[in-house]
Amino acid sequence: PLPEPFRVPLPVPPVAVPRRTATTDHYELTQRPAAHEILPGASTEIWGYEGIFPGPTIVSRSGRTTVVRHHNRLPVPTVVHLHGGHTPASSDGYPTDLVLPDAWATAMPMDPTHPMHAPDPAAVVTHGVRDYVYPLRQRAATLWYHDHRMGFTGSSVWRGLAGFHLVHDDEEDALPLPKGDRDIPLMITDRAFTADGAFRYPALDPSGLHEPGVRGGYHQGVLGDVVLVNGAPWPVLDVDAARYRFRFLNASNARRYRLALDPAPPGGSGLVQIGSDGGLLAAPRRHDSIGLAPAERCEVVVDFSRYRVGEPVTLRNLLGRGPAHDVMRFRVVRRARDDSRVPGRLSSIEPLVASGGTVRRTFVYRRTGDAWTINGHRFAPARVDTDPRLGDVEVWRFISDFQHPVHLHLGHFQVLGRDRGGPGPYDAGWKDTIDLRPAQAAAVIVRFDDYRGRFLHHCHNLEHEDMAMMANFQVV
Ligand code: C2O
Ligand code: CU
Repeated sequence: PLPEPFRVPLPVPPVAVPRRTATTDHYELTQRPAAHEILPGASTEIWGYEGIFPGPTIVSRSGRTTVVRHHNRLPVPTVVHLHGGHTPASSDGYPTDLVLPDAWATAMPMDPTHPMHAPDPAAVVTHGVRDYVYPLRQRAATLWYHDHRMGFTGSSVWRGLAGFHLVHDDEEDALPLPKGDRDIPLMITDRAFTADGAFRYPALDPSGLHEPGVRGGYHQGVLGDVVLVNGAPWPVLDVDAARYRFRFLNASNARRYRLALDPAPPGGSGLVQIGSDGGLLAAPRRHDSIGLAPAERCEVVVDFSRYRVGEPVTLRNLLGRGPAHDVMRFRVVRRARDDSRVPGRLSSIEPLVASGGTVRRTFVYRRTGDAWTINGHRFAPARVDTDPRLGDVEVWRFISDFQHPVHLHLGHFQVLGRDRGGPGPYDAGWKDTIDLRPAQAAAVIVRFDDYRGRFLHHCHNLEHEDMAMMANFQVV
């Protein structure tokens, strides 16, 4: 039986504490298994950064280097990717840059010459530990970090390897937006559980070592019937009758959401969007509901003073049926002072413009036989699929057969349009993931700045990703 919704208080992941030097913040995180009571009365084994799910939140300053030392005390290799990070290739978490488990220093239970594990002469494999270096020359934004191992991202993220990484800057600090306890990251995931409380994931190979992918019937993506926010099932949060900033992240493997407040506040437009994947929008946008595909972020301000004290406000998922229709609940418990507001102008976003000489490329995301492919190819680490020049602006057109949340590493992009129209209602600002609908074409414009080397674009439906829907671009 599923737990009663809106009983468990919303957890907020702890903020990790760095060791600071003049130029750099140093963190040390250990990836390890742990048992947690996710469903009341049951124990679930998770794999977590520091043994928690979500992992600790890392908070960085734009332009200041953050170094995260990751130790692997899990039974499988791992790879850490900072999603939305403008990161040099050596720290971007390329899917074959494995961190082998600490315990494998003496015995290696998998064959390192197996094509799944060493298909890539350029891979940099380390034992037990790796330092990831993030220069963070980028604007304030809600980033997140998660596992990215080739062929096994879906099962490892499902077990809990995901956390927030927030970047702040002066421009954002100067705005009168809600802050402190009224600025809350919300990681939304769906999970399925066995009768005894374990995470249920239809991996072909439950050891996570040999055969990637999921069993037949799950190739479209794995869904769960329990919605977790910050790792708790359908939680509840007591709020003041005041404005709150919520940083929504859809960290689900495959589920798309359309978030809406129920009831809507009098006059509607209860979700005032202030940011997306790449940080603040130029100006706020008012929505009654917001679509969120896997890996997308959306920052909103909700003004609970528009509700009566005592009123429950439920966050629904208009795309979900049954238990997946509910996400979480807010309880407006008291009147309170509120000095925050949402200014009419948030930031300036310089539009990227294409010219006659701009390189244009087309990528077809579709199923070919039993694999998910890009331009007919399955992912192969050694193959350079595309080679943009450092500093160039390019227009990339994506064409899809099914729903594919398409994600680019390295650079944030601007959406130029979908099909024959302009950008969609949630495409504003800087994006790193675009929610492609079935049989849709979309065009984005992107600049390949600062770092040469090998990066990825891929579908962020993690089952599609694991079943080969990734491609390389080499910035030259
Ligand atoms: Cu969030 Cu390549 O991933
Ligand atoms: Cu896909």
